[in-house]
Amino acid sequence: MPESNTLPETNPLREALPRSRVPDPCAVVLFGATGDLAHRKLVPALFQLARGGNLPSESAIVGFARRDWADADLRAEYEKTLSKGAGADFREVWSQFANRILFSPGTFDDPASYEKLKETLDRADKTLGTQGNRVYYLAVAPEFFATIIKRLGEAGLIYPGHHESPWSRVVVEKPFGHDLKSARALNREVTAELDESQLYRIDHYLGKETVQNILALRFGNSIFEPLWNRRHVGSVQVTVAEEVGMAGGRGSYYDTAGTIRDMVQNHMMQLLCLVAMEPPVDLSADAVRNEKVKVLQALPRWKPEDVFKNVVRAQYTAGSMQGSEVPGYLAEKGVAPGSKTDTYVAIRLELNNWRWAGVPFFLRTGKRLPKRATEIAIQFRRPPTELFEPEADGLSGANQLVLRIQPNEGASLTFEAKVPGSRRRLQEVRMDFRYGTAFALPPPEAYERLLVDVMLGDPTLYTRSDEVESAWRFISTILDAWQQPDAPPPATYEAGSWGPPAADTLIAADGARWRRL
Ligand code: BG6
Repeated sequence: MPESNTLPETNPLREALPRSRVPDPCAVVLFGATGDLAHRKLVPALFQLARGGNLPSESAIVGFARRDWADADLRAEYEKTLSKGAGADFREVWSQFANRILFSPGTFDDPASYEKLKETLDRADKTLGTQGNRVYYLAVAPEFFATIIKRLGEAGLIYPGHHESPWSRVVVEKPFGHDLKSARALNREVTAELDESQLYRIDHYLGKETVQNILALRFGNSIFEPLWNRRHVGSVQVTVAEEVGMAGGRGSYYDTAGTIRDMVQNHMMQLLCLVAMEPPVDLSADAVRNEKVKVLQALPRWKPEDVFKNVVRAQYTAGSMQGSEVPGYLAEKGVAPGSKTDTYVAIRLELNNWRWAGVPFFLRTGKRLPKRATEIAIQFRRPPTELFEPEADGLSGANQLVLRIQPNEGASLTFEAKVPGSRRRLQEVRMDFRYGTAFALPPPEAYERLLVDVMLGDPTLYTRSDEVESAWRFISTILDAWQQPDAPPPATYEAGSWGPPAADTLIAADGARWRRL
């Protein structure tokens, strides 16, 4: 994988990039239109799509929120958000985009609000040509999912699942349930109004270009797959490290979820699925999701004592991040006094299937770690005999394939090379590939891809009910064990450190260590 420092003027790799797919005319209704997610992610993603010509020209963005507003108020609000740091073409794109924004005031439980929404959507069909097609995006707290879907159904705003035209689809944000029981109950409630094919459960990690590239690397090449199994792989490490703490008033939500629900149940389980799954027969939604579910079904069935042995949970204490003092978790706004909520989790697990039996997978994720870095490292086995002088600590980082999800998206392969000279000494060297350099394009935002997919009716990158439930089954075992009276309390780690010593002990038992990032 050679890499050149200078970019060619015409990049041959770019020529292979697919032409963009433009969906049917449609209205995207944003529940929670004035909320954080709409401002930070959804509206910017829709704007970028419009800018790149990837939003149908007959489209509407309908904001639904509890405000006494008119269209002009929502437009002014989004203009403020989008104009920050915008490029030179902002005015030109905005003038077109603004006309597509409509507002429909209402509260989630009030049937009259949905009658009003119906009128607004009719107006969108007449004036903006949206042709009756609808995406309802539920960027709201999960306790409102079932109510909103029920009210949409009662108001006749959801068409039968088999309707091809016009169509209606619902996107729900995570968390989908709080544990296995609640996820099952929620699945039952929402599918009373909707067909599974109309329900899009989002996990924004799946929209990340480099996450999708795990499949491309594994199944678009022939050199990796023959090695991708217990014979050749010694262990796998998945790291999702974050610098952020409880910024933006997240403490009160986070304290009810913890890292295990907020990051492990969804994002980390998805990364695990993509790295461990069997090749699908094709790239259709069901073929890919069938293989992912099988990985989740191969997760261990633990007793509480297995959880205590294989899972480390911890909470950050005050510390220093890039030279600034930051408070500990218990001093964050919205966190209950004496809370035991986990802000860091490390897990050692084995998958019970033919490909992976006996191979340890080490997962770790946490807030307030020294830097933001998500990666998957495949550690291949050492050569069967030691012909050369071993590295001093016997823990060579060679024979590792690292998939960098973010930042510096790319992949690198380390292997041993002989140090020049008369000794038979080896040193680890690295081949590196970077998406930014190779394709001369920054990867698109995950939400852009996911929004286009729902408009196109492609659920491949959304999670199916059985995936969600299988992931919850594993996570609920851990949650239940933590409720036991003999459960060890969460360990602590200083903000700005790489986590608690117990996580190092966990991995050291297999003769390995966490990668230094
Ligand atoms: C969200 C979690 O789903 O993902 C956040 O709720 C987390 O706690 C975020 O910070 C991380 O996403 P990204 O795209 O920045 O890696």
